[in-house]
Amino acid sequence: MTDLILGIETSCDETAAAVVSEDLRILSNVVSSQMDLHARYGGVVPEVASRVHTSEIIPVLDSALSEAQITPDRLTAVAVTRGPGLIGSLLVGVSVAKALALSWRKPVLGINHLEAHLASASMGEIPIRFPCLVLLVSGGHTLLARMLGPGDYELLGSTRDDSVGEAYDKVSRLLGYGYPGGPALDRIARASPATLNFPRPMMGDGLDFSFSGLKSAVASYVRREPDHVPHEVAASFVAAAMDVLLAKLESALQIGEFGSVAVVGGVAASPILRERLGELGRHHDIPICLPPVHLATDNGAMVAAAAWPRLEKEGGHPFDFGADASLTLAS
Ligand code: KG4
Ligand code: ZN
Repeated sequence: MTDLILGIETSCDETAAAVVSEDLRILSNVVSSQMDLHARYGGVVPEVASRVHTSEIIPVLDSALSEAQITPDRLTAVAVTRGPGLIGSLLVGVSVAKALALSWRKPVLGINHLEAHLASASMGEIPIRFPCLVLLVSGGHTLLARMLGPGDYELLGSTRDDSVGEAYDKVSRLLGYGYPGGPALDRIARASPATLNFPRPMMGDGLDFSFSGLKSAVASYVRREPDHVPHEVAASFVAAAMDVLLAKLESALQIGEFGSVAVVGGVAASPILRERLGELGRHHDIPICLPPVHLATDNGAMVAAAAWPRLEKEGGHPFDFGADASLTLAS
């Protein structure tokens, strides 16, 4: 019989749970998104998010177990995101995971959300070859890391201000395309010309990122030009953001030998980014490892995937671990 981990994710606005085997077969993956609810406010409202997690978490867990057609006694361990994220949201997942693990007499593991995104690349079609250059592009983070093995990485660069997902969301709101901005702007960008030349911040300048300048340039253009064409502004913003991401990957590839490139996080769902990455892979003759599109945004399967190597190395975690809103990749 295969070993199974239940992965739980409640760090932001998705209540999610999944059952994943040690060879990363996904038996179930249930995601209840609060996106439509937060769209009304133009972004995630933390207080609302934690309340919805409280009502959603048990039904989501119940569906994850029943879709996997298992009872809790079949589980090897329970894993949960312990940070970074919204503290009220994290507390719901962490408390429920500990209570379940205690009553089911299973080990519990507190997982770093960024590590979980990194692990999502292992669930794609192309196997990772180490050392792997990883770009994490989510709503909360933009960073580059060298991954030497599962759970073993070195930070190479990160954003000094906004994440790329945050810039997408803010520009989308500004142009009236709503929340979340990524899918909306991407759809528009695929059908519209990128006629405007917005700045590409810090392009030739190390491996750190900065997206607030690009976002401000878009905002001041929109204010200055009352007759602007929103589609063209959106497409031009996306083109600038993509150029920065690709240029940073190019620079990072110069600093060492890598066996593959992995790109993870919500923005990795973007078809435009995926297409540009295909070109990069062909040009450098390097495998590009991507999570399946539905595992790029937050989910429980990536939490379980990150938990397997941790369980092997560390066993279960002591029950007194807490939620940590500002956990970093190194912590
Ligand atoms: O990884 P994620 O689900 O949550 C965080 O950990 O932050 O990422 C959410 C971000 C949002 O900013 C959203 O706009 C962006 O991912 N996103 C996309 C796409 N789908 C989601 N960005 C670009 N293209 C997409 N198709
Ligand atoms: Zn995330």
